[in-house]
Amino acid sequence: MANTYDFIDHKYDVVVVGAGGSGLRAALGCAAAGLKTACISKVFPTRSHTVAAQGGISASLGNMSEDDWRWHMYDTVKGSDWLGDQDAIEYLVRNAPAAVYELEHWGVPFSRTPEGKIYQRAFGGMTRNYGEAPIQRTCAAADRTGHAMLHTMYGQALAKKTEFFIEYFALDLIMDEGACRGVTAWKLDDGTLHRFQAQQVILATGGYGRAYFSCTSAHTCTGDGGGMALRAGLPLQDMEFVQFHPTGIYGAGCLITEGARGEGGYLTNSEGERFMERYAPSVKDLAPRDMVSRAMTIEIREGRGVGPKKDHINLHLDHLDPKVLHERLPGISESARIFAGVDVTKEPIPVLPTVHYNMGGIPTNFYSEVVTIAGKNPDKVVPGLMAVGEAACVSVHGANRLGSNSLIDLVVFGRSAALRCADTIKAGATQVELKPAMTDGHLARFDRFRTAAGKTSTAALRLEMQQAMQEDAAVFRDGKSLTSGVKRLEVVQKARKDLAVSDRGMVWNTDLMETLELDNLIGQAVVTVVGAANRQESRGAHAREDFAARDDKTWMKHTLTWFDDATGKVKIDYRPVHDFTMTNDIAPIPPKARVY
Ligand code: FUM
Repeated sequence: MANTYDFIDHKYDVVVVGAGGSGLRAALGCAAAGLKTACISKVFPTRSHTVAAQGGISASLGNMSEDDWRWHMYDTVKGSDWLGDQDAIEYLVRNAPAAVYELEHWGVPFSRTPEGKIYQRAFGGMTRNYGEAPIQRTCAAADRTGHAMLHTMYGQALAKKTEFFIEYFALDLIMDEGACRGVTAWKLDDGTLHRFQAQQVILATGGYGRAYFSCTSAHTCTGDGGGMALRAGLPLQDMEFVQFHPTGIYGAGCLITEGARGEGGYLTNSEGERFMERYAPSVKDLAPRDMVSRAMTIEIREGRGVGPKKDHINLHLDHLDPKVLHERLPGISESARIFAGVDVTKEPIPVLPTVHYNMGGIPTNFYSEVVTIAGKNPDKVVPGLMAVGEAACVSVHGANRLGSNSLIDLVVFGRSAALRCADTIKAGATQVELKPAMTDGHLARFDRFRTAAGKTSTAALRLEMQQAMQEDAAVFRDGKSLTSGVKRLEVVQKARKDLAVSDRGMVWNTDLMETLELDNLIGQAVVTVVGAANRQESRGAHAREDFAARDDKTWMKHTLTWFDDATGKVKIDYRPVHDFTMTNDIAPIPPKARVY
């Protein structure tokens, strides 16, 4: 190694990486349980991407009409196209109402019904009585629900004495004999390097939306936890399932919440037709996202897109009472004005399906413990490592997530991680001695990129990756596009060796940070296209034109992918889908055709 780097050491019972909704919920729960807890984050906590979540958080509170967690479970299993693990889904939906009331008691300023109850709106795929008709199940704080949750939980985490390490960029997991012992991090504002030792590391690092050119995700969504997991020799699960949100603003990619359709908005094509009536006759514009995104793409392909290039779709809110828009959708009214120049009370918003969410991630059980395959055991827990939120694949979303099931996933599984830590960790227990060999690889990688003197700029390589993903792993894919994607990503991953980093400094070196983030993205982009090329069926968000049907006999299983950082090779294996429930209070929901 060209340089020597010294670490500053820290020892905690629990270290949470990431301070979005799931990270904060996990951290505050661990701290409240008396565990010495650190939360490290590359951005100030209230700038985490949860702040951008708009429409709401699902829970069967029954404030607008009768509801039942079993109906929520049915919708989530069906929404997942039967790739979700039903035990984990039962855990999610049963714990959802309590999780929302907990947020309410902590001070989340939910919108209210005239009687003062938490207001709930309709969202795609959420139905009453096992698919009969849309239901209002999504609890909302206007269209700024994530913002409200994040600020409230940051306050709670501080109150419970979570120790924050802000603007620390996590580098790699400290692994030893198959167990995680901590994480290394780089403090951005003074350039120091840190070793955080812990009995349990909880990865809450969010998704990797920025692997694509156009996405609703923040620029910080570079899947740092997934990158670390891959380099630690751990697999990622179901990476081929990437969600396109139907209503990203055309040209800008910013999110227009599904809550807009929940409040009565609808989509039209160039003929002024409400085309969703043809694709999902019973729920129409409130079909799940995979279906709406496909319908929009078909309309555009068949020449019924709007605009001079006929390349987008109109979202109408102009028929709604301006008072409703002002009270319930103020944020997107402003976004439409700023990013599309549209007054939503008078004109439709131009929209296009835009990458929004990664169903895949680090595989976990419903205690949030990371799992992998060991011999015949598909559920082997990786000691010392948990993952929560979008970074994780529990898997409650399977092949397609329902809108508003993400915010509830964050808090339910953030809480489950904290409960598990409280059950299994003794505060202050002795930890193994860390050896230099455990972190030599971290430093070698850091140094390699800091001194990279090739010819390819980070920005150019990132663009090459993003364009390949956007074009070849889109709403619709086929063998040809995916083969092209695999080849293009192979070129990108090899070009990592030719990167050029011009800033050699340690302090606020954004050139280096973006390069480390790109490296995290590339591994995940590679396993996404390889996984997609491998799965020869259509299920949820993975729509293959050459294998148009769902094939439960062969493919009702989770894909696991390992990425060899040195060679760029991908290994594939499978875990069975949990088609059993957690308790006997509900029978497993058998697969059937997904009609809405
Ligand atoms: O449309 C939205 O407000 C996004 C919600 C979600 O992804 O859950």
